[in-house]
Amino acid sequence: MKKLFGILIASAALAVASIDANAQAPADIPADMNALMSKYTCIACHRPNQRLVGPAYADVAKKNYSDEEIVNLIYNPIPTHWPGYPPMAPMKQVPKEDAMKLATWINSLDGGAKKSSTKKTTTKKSTKKSA
Ligand code: HEC
Repeated sequence: MKKLFGILIASAALAVASIDANAQAPADIPADMNALMSKYTCIACHRPNQRLVGPAYADVAKKNYSDEEIVNLIYNPIPTHWPGYPPMAPMKQVPKEDAMKLATWINSLDGGAKKSSTKKTTTKKSTKKSA
């Protein structure tokens, strides 16, 4: 009886581990970003290169927001930016530091047009300019 119980626990743990490995780490998401995306549930609606409930982050990157603008949009989405999508709920529970990490990564997905990922964002592009 004890032994059976042990086996059950072991297989339950295995099942959890394999869910983690498979479902939560798409190849195009770095481990640290995957952790943030999962923690704040972004992963439910966003992928780097694929439309899901929300736009692909690569498409967000094409809008040329500054990292700060993306952080603001995480806290206060502007659904009119994305006709044809449902509105995203404000994600104010994300700490600024983590929001900034996500924003910097999102901006880095701009199809190879390597933007300087340095902190100088003084020359902001208008948020109204669509790709
Ligand atoms: C329930 C689904 C859902 C979740 C969860 C979600 N998003 Fe979104 N997101 C959307 C949708 C839909 C849009 C497009 C409509 C909009 O902007 O309101 C969007 C738009 C965006 C945009 C583009 C904003 C703009 O105006 O161009 C960014 C950046 C973004 N999401 C980041 C995130 C981050 C980071 C998280 C996690 C902290 C997250 N989203 C969680 C659905 C979601």
